[in-house]
Amino acid sequence: MDVKVIRKDFPVLKNTNVIYFDNAATTLTPNQVIFAMNEYYEKYRANIHRGIHKLSEIASKKYEEAHNEIARFLNAKSEEIFITKNTTESINQLAFSLYFSGYLKKGDKIVTTLLEHHSNFLPWLRLKKLYGIELEIIRPNEEGIFNLDDFEKACKDAKLVTIIHVSNVLGSITPVEKICKIAKGYNALVHIDGAQSTPHMEIDVKKIGCDFFSCSAHKFCGPTGIGILYMKKELGEKLEPALLGGGIITKVTLDDYFFTKLPDKWEAGTPNIAGVIGTGEAIKYLKKIGMKNIENYERKLTKNIIEKMNDIPNLEIYGPKNIENRTGVIPFNFKNMHPHDVAGLLNNLSNIAVRSGHHCAMPLHTNLIKRANGTCRASLYFYNTEEEVEIFIKTLKEISKLS
Ligand code: ALA
Repeated sequence: MDVKVIRKDFPVLKNTNVIYFDNAATTLTPNQVIFAMNEYYEKYRANIHRGIHKLSEIASKKYEEAHNEIARFLNAKSEEIFITKNTTESINQLAFSLYFSGYLKKGDKIVTTLLEHHSNFLPWLRLKKLYGIELEIIRPNEEGIFNLDDFEKACKDAKLVTIIHVSNVLGSITPVEKICKIAKGYNALVHIDGAQSTPHMEIDVKKIGCDFFSCSAHKFCGPTGIGILYMKKELGEKLEPALLGGGIITKVTLDDYFFTKLPDKWEAGTPNIAGVIGTGEAIKYLKKIGMKNIENYERKLTKNIIEKMNDIPNLEIYGPKNIENRTGVIPFNFKNMHPHDVAGLLNNLSNIAVRSGHHCAMPLHTNLIKRANGTCRASLYFYNTEEEVEIFIKTLKEISKLS
């Protein structure tokens, strides 16, 4: 894996001198993805599955090919993959669907954790607030590591377990395979929020053993506006989709409607066609580099950056101490400095992009890290370099003198 060559594929890296360490928020887009999306608009712009004309046929074929590529990326079948707008929408659709379908009723219990992004917390909290569904929240230790006995106890009477795979704040990796096994022992369904895992490791939904899995293309070099919801085939067939409209039915009468086959049943309305085609291209791009290579490279970079950050005075780092338990998401604070001020200084002094604040995970910040103002967060991807890490560390040392 030659990072120098890889970086040439990313126009933002060529056109600016940014040190882009905000990859947990969104990633940069390679030319290959931009070209594929432009090609749709320039050469075969048409709606899919609706016309019998030539352009519609090409667009439908390209869309289906990309849909299959997305399915293979997660080791699922195409009929188990539904395209949404983002991870947030995937999870909201799932919550609506489980409630509409009568699977979750008053008094039923959902198990979740304190690590969740608001996207995998609010849809379930609403079911508790409005419909009397119980929500049990499992707490990890300060590093974000869970005691599996807590799941063993909580899953006994649970209908659904919904957990984050990699924390967008701490970078901690949740042992989802083990948790699925525990939950399955009690016949609970399991949903995994894979927004922060899918970009950085090989994902195999069958091996994980989950029923539902959600993620977003923009976190792995794809376009914004594309979310993915994986659902086991028998559940996709059985459950009521959250959204109804064109393209999902075989027959509509004045009193009833009849769904078509999967995955169309779950993709109402004209989809983001260029976005899906771009996502397929992003996956091909990542596969060419190799997900294992990406994972190994990022682990080395993360180990290096954390070791160097540990030597900086007044700097606190959060998340797992053991590098094997985390990805390249690194939250930190300087004592006595507001995270927004630190992010501003990184930007102004060295053009380094990081995120600061609560990162859409307020319960985690208030109950676990206990930092009311939030944290600063550097998040790496495979196109980041050791040279960028050096500049980041040098700038942090300068900021440290102000803290
Ligand atoms: N969920 C994204 C983040 O953590 C936006 O920054």
